[in-house]
Amino acid sequence: MGPVRRSRRRVLIVKLVSTWADARASTAGRGAVGLVPTMGFLHEAHAALFDAAVAANDVAIASIFVNPLQFNNADDLAAYPRDHDRDLEVADAAGIDIVFAPDEEEMYPSDMSTTISTGAVAAKMEGEFRPGHFDGVATVVAKLFAGLRPATAYFGKKDAQQLAVVRTMARDLSLPVEVVGCSTLRESDGLALSSRNVRLDPALRYEATSLSRGLLAAAEAIVEGVVDAATLVGVVRAELVRAGVTPDYVELAGQSGATLISSVDRPSFLAVAAWIGNVRLIDNIHIDIIAGLPVPDRGVTLSSRSVLYGGS
Ligand code: PAJ
Repeated sequence: MGPVRRSRRRVLIVKLVSTWADARASTAGRGAVGLVPTMGFLHEAHAALFDAAVAANDVAIASIFVNPLQFNNADDLAAYPRDHDRDLEVADAAGIDIVFAPDEEEMYPSDMSTTISTGAVAAKMEGEFRPGHFDGVATVVAKLFAGLRPATAYFGKKDAQQLAVVRTMARDLSLPVEVVGCSTLRESDGLALSSRNVRLDPALRYEATSLSRGLLAAAEAIVEGVVDAATLVGVVRAELVRAGVTPDYVELAGQSGATLISSVDRPSFLAVAAWIGNVRLIDNIHIDIIAGLPVPDRGVTLSSRSVLYGGS
């Protein structure tokens, strides 16, 4: 049995729309809208964002759009996994009211001439290794905010710099939306869930899990009182070296603005990115300051394998 299981046909309650006009007509007069932007191939982490949106809003919308503007190369875009039918089932099961799945022309009319340009928040880490990526993310998210008018939008802390980019963009453009960050969901071996994980060679699992092992070791060090960025980065790198992994970067950054910092003296995140085979993985731990002390958020770990691997 493959990862996609359709044991029985169910009647779905979720409403599927593909135009801005239909999306807006479906939410008109229904109260506070909660939005979860996604690129589909949905898994438990998306479902956790859906749960948050459903619980706190009158209407919950999930958008599904594999955004060509944020891909750095055509191969990665072409290889991005897709499963529209299963996505609808996952959204429906989570209680999402509306799935907005526009085609490319609806999202980006061929004569479109305006995009968002991100600045310092997108300059380091992912921005250095994926030029233009965050301009593409910010452009599609700005369009979703403007076109669907959510009161609240939900993003994963797993993509820490993306969360900072979106928060900064919403503030800079005075968009009236509250951006909520949700904890990172992990496989039981620590690997952060990602739609791209289905392309991971199982033989490279030890290498892949070195990212979370390194970050969780750093979380221990933080609890023991280490706040110096160079030391924490060293803890992560040591675990990567042990697994033979050379990262694109390991950095400590501020949650606000994603600027690189030298000490955990504010809400921050310790981030890592690395190629494992032909899949590029990113992971991080957020560190909050609670009662004056740095407290790492290790994320939430699934007790059984994710739907990505045909599990529970
Ligand atoms: P996608 O990778 O589909 O992720 C959609 C949302 O799910 C993002 O906010 C992401 O941070 C969150 N997410 C993914 N894996 C997660 C995990 N293991 N734990 C917690 N949250 C997780 O991110 C994108 O799509 C796109 O860039 C998008 C924002 C939709 C713009 O195109």
